[in-house]
Amino acid sequence: MPCIFVSRDTFPEVLYRKLSEVGEVRTYKYGKPAWLTVGIPKEVLKRAAAECDALVVFVGDRVDAEVLSAGSRLKIISTVSVGYDHIDVAEAKRRGIVVTNTPEVLVDATADLAVGLLLALARRIVEGDRLIREGKAYDIWGALIGSDIRGKRAGIVGLGNLGAAIARRLLAFGAEVVYWSRTRKPQVEFALGIKYLSLEELLATSDFVVVSIALTPETYHLINWERLNRMKKGAYLVNVSRGAVVDTEALVRALREGLLAGAALDVFETEPLPHTHELAKFPNVVLTPHIGSAAEETRRMMAEIAAENVVRFFRGQRPLYVVE
Ligand code: DGY
Repeated sequence: MPCIFVSRDTFPEVLYRKLSEVGEVRTYKYGKPAWLTVGIPKEVLKRAAAECDALVVFVGDRVDAEVLSAGSRLKIISTVSVGYDHIDVAEAKRRGIVVTNTPEVLVDATADLAVGLLLALARRIVEGDRLIREGKAYDIWGALIGSDIRGKRAGIVGLGNLGAAIARRLLAFGAEVVYWSRTRKPQVEFALGIKYLSLEELLATSDFVVVSIALTPETYHLINWERLNRMKKGAYLVNVSRGAVVDTEALVRALREGLLAGAALDVFETEPLPHTHELAKFPNVVLTPHIGSAAEETRRMMAEIAAENVVRFFRGQRPLYVVE
């Protein structure tokens, strides 16, 4: 029976149940509260790679060349996520190890969060909550004046499934939606009635910039100081993809210099983000702890798909989603 190592014991139960149909399931138990993106210790992962045929991991569990080199019998890595920048896919391929992921099912949940963050920024929802909890006096007419969404330009950076789902939502709010993507998507453009712009023009003219592009070597620090500096004055930035797509230091500087009206971030270059981080000092910054897919039904579907990928593999079938 294949040995299947699961990097935590807190995935929905269906995952362990399904996996035990095809193998002996081992799990790592967190001794402390598990932060979503804190990976398990490297040594544990290396041992698991050496002893097991399959690894089931989550973002934060870094399956790098060192871990892979320990995995003499490793055949498949199934990540319970759409993103796979925590896995050295090229090295896995070189070693003939299949990598699978769980795209599609988390698109709606993540798009909902992106729009939620955008609304929180534009309408200063978190600031309002804080104001009441701190017992501060406020003038009902003058307090926390924010921005409309209707009639404003929203620029989506990266038009994959997630970017398109965010675009659809923002169109429903009456925004004018434009996008930039590494490859132009004429069908989606036509279907949604949205316009393609160069990244520079999108940044210079958008009131809201929503980052939904995957992290790759090409998109690392895509939103750097030069680009932040060229953004429309008083624009808002939302990031729900990966922290490293935005240069954090440059973002802090842009906020400090008042170039942006605000930023909302679900992802960070370092996770967990220390509560003492500069970003946490700005009242016009909304921070959430990488919860794009954190909705009950979504997480259950992710777990089911991640398990199904492994089940199919060991039954000699093609997994549902193979990272190519
Ligand atoms: C993903 O799936 O890549 C998200 O970032 C975590 O759910």
